[in-house]
Parts: sequence; structure tokens; C-alpha cells
Amino acid sequence: MLKLSQPNISEEAIAAVANVLRSGQLVHGQECETFERELAAYLGCSEVVLVSSGTAALHVALLALDIGPGDAVIVPDFTFPATANVVALTGARAVIVDVMPDTYTLDTAQFERVVSGWTGPERLRAVIPVHEFGYVADMAEINRIAKAHGLAVVEDAACALGASLADRKAGTWGDAGCFSFHPRKTLTTGEGGAISTDNVELAARMRRLRNHGMERTEEGMRFFEPATNYRLTNFQAALGRAQLALLDNWIAQRRRLASVYLELLAPLQARGLLRLPDHAAGHSWQTFMVVNTSGQPRSEIIQALRDAGVEANLGAQSLSALGIYGGSEQAAPCGGNLYREGIALPFCEQYSEAMLETVAQALTQYFAA
Ligand SMILES: Cc1ncc(COP(=O)(O)O)c(C=O)c1O
Repeated sequence: MLKLSQPNISEEAIAAVANVLRSGQLVHGQECETFERELAAYLGCSEVVLVSSGTAALHVALLALDIGPGDAVIVPDFTFPATANVVALTGARAVIVDVMPDTYTLDTAQFERVVSGWTGPERLRAVIPVHEFGYVADMAEINRIAKAHGLAVVEDAACALGASLADRKAGTWGDAGCFSFHPRKTLTTGEGGAISTDNVELAARMRRLRNHGMERTEEGMRFFEPATNYRLTNFQAALGRAQLALLDNWIAQRRRLASVYLELLAPLQARGLLRLPDHAAGHSWQTFMVVNTSGQPRSEIIQALRDAGVEANLGAQSLSALGIYGGSEQAAPCGGNLYREGIALPFCEQYSEAMLETVAQALTQYFAA
């Protein structure tokens, strides 16, 4: 079976992890501190705070901004539920706004309408644009609207480490950027995540919030506030460091392969059977998802691909369609359609053009039958 994707773990990366395991320094330590500095240099920001998952990154960012009960936070409809779960975990309410059909990211015109027309009862405090599958949302416009209305911007860059827009990396546009290192992401530490920011005070608060609300002072440990244990381990950081050195080459290869897919699948789009994703220069292509426009049941297409030895799956969820965060499905038709008709295809930098041809042939054969 051609899998959706494969983690890219070299023998050097395994050796780096083994070294840390032999050292006995397992929890947050030297490797974590170095990885934080290297990530900050890579992203072009002053601070990076490592945490135990992308969800932890988003949760800590919202807590550090003092978002809680009585507040509301705008989230795009089409995303992984973690984006809304963290809002609920703070006691705030997630307000769902639809996405664009080709970029799968926040619809900024609708975002502006919701913010301008906001009448409460909650206090609108922040927006979480999601750079879905590595496509950077329209951050200049989102920042303009957020600034005009006094909203904090927390980028959900879970899928977008290494993606950029106008030569600025995803995760460095907002007040904080949140990354995931889950195995479905291009760089993985198993579970893991990071928060980027240029705000030194915010970073200090986030470091405290990931570590029991504690800081080390001259008198020893001091506990400032109730908090979490969301630390990354030292051996996970060693795994991440080994991959960071290769990340830009991997993303360049993903961009090449995405162009190949777009060319191979163009005839199916021309026949109105599939809609292909928008190809922006800074896209990091964490996932390659097409949209079924053929009128055939998506489940049948996914099954036909599996029968041909090709794993395929839905891309992400529609928050309003899940029915557990409020919001109406009528207000988010694009997100709902991407959720119901999106098909994620096998994709990662280790795959060859021949593998992508197998996928395109399997799709073409299904539609020919
Ligand atoms: C858009 C988005 N946000 C948040 C997350 C949560 O990341 P993690 O699985 O590392 O908690 C994911 C993970 O799939 C994601 O895709």
C-alpha cells in the first residue's frame, strides 16, 4: 500500500536520539535549548518555546494572552479540531468563519464582516488563522483587520513549518505562531510542538505555563500560577534538530512533486471531476488534497484507490459540521464541502514521480470505469 506519508528519520537522527538516551538527561535540557535557538534562527524570530504538541502550543499561547471565560476567538471552519478545542479548554468560545475554496484558509472578507458586526455577548479577543496543509493564510489582510479591532493573532502553523509568504515565514506574522511535530507533519518528534514569538515577555510567560507555572530564582523554584506540564523531552529535541538541518531541501522537493501532481491531475480537473489546490510559491505542501467535484461518492473513490494499493483519506474537518462547537453549517459551505469532498493523496518528499503517476493512473482509471 502506498501510504499517505512516511516520517523521514535518518540513521543520524536515530543516533542523535540514542546519544541523549545514553546521557540520562531525558526531560527538558541542552538539546531543547539548542533546538529552540535553531528554530528561532530558521524562522527569523527572537523566541521559540518548545512544548509537547501542537495542541499544547495553541493552548499555552491562548493562556499567555489571558484568554478565558467571557472571551471569544475566531477560528476557520476547515481545520483539525485542536484549533477549536484549545479555545474551549480556556473557557472561551470559538466563533467559526468559513474558508476559501482553493486555498482552504480563512475567508478574510467574512472574517472582517463578523468582526465589524460583532455585538457580543463575549469579548472578541483573538483570531487563529490556520495555514492549512502548509498554505499561508492572507496574513497581511488578517493582521490589518485584527489590528483595527484590537484582536491578538495566534497563527495555527501546525502544518506549516518552513512555509512562507512574501519571504516571511509562517508563524512570524502574528503575536505567536504554533507548530506541530506530529508524525504526519514534515518535521516530526513523535509528539511535539513549538511556539514562535518576538515578544520576550510573552515567551517568558509561555515558558512558565509549559512548566507547572514555575521559574527558577536565586532562592530556588518559585511557583507563580497554576499551569501545565507541556514540556518536550531532550531526546525529542535531538530528533527534531537532526531533521531541521534537512527541512528546506525536503520542502523544495515537496514543491517539485506538487507541481508534478498538478500536471498529472490537470486533465481530471479539466473534465470537472476534481478541483486542484492553489499553488502558491511559499506553500510547504504538508498535505496534497484534491476536492471531488465529480458527483461520485467520495467513499467510493477512496475505496477504489485503496483497491489499487493507494491510501487516501479525508483532509481535515469542518468545525461547524462536527456540531460540537456551535456555528451553523449554512454559514460555512466551503469548509463543509472540503470536509465532505476533500481527498488527501499520498505525498511526501521521499516519494518518486513514478509513485505519483500510480496515484494519478488509479484516479483516471476509476473515472474511466
Ligand atoms: C491545523 C492543526 N492544528 C493543530 C493540530 C494539533 O497538533 P498536535 O497533533 O501536535 O497536537 C493539528 C494536528 O494535526 C493541525 O493539523
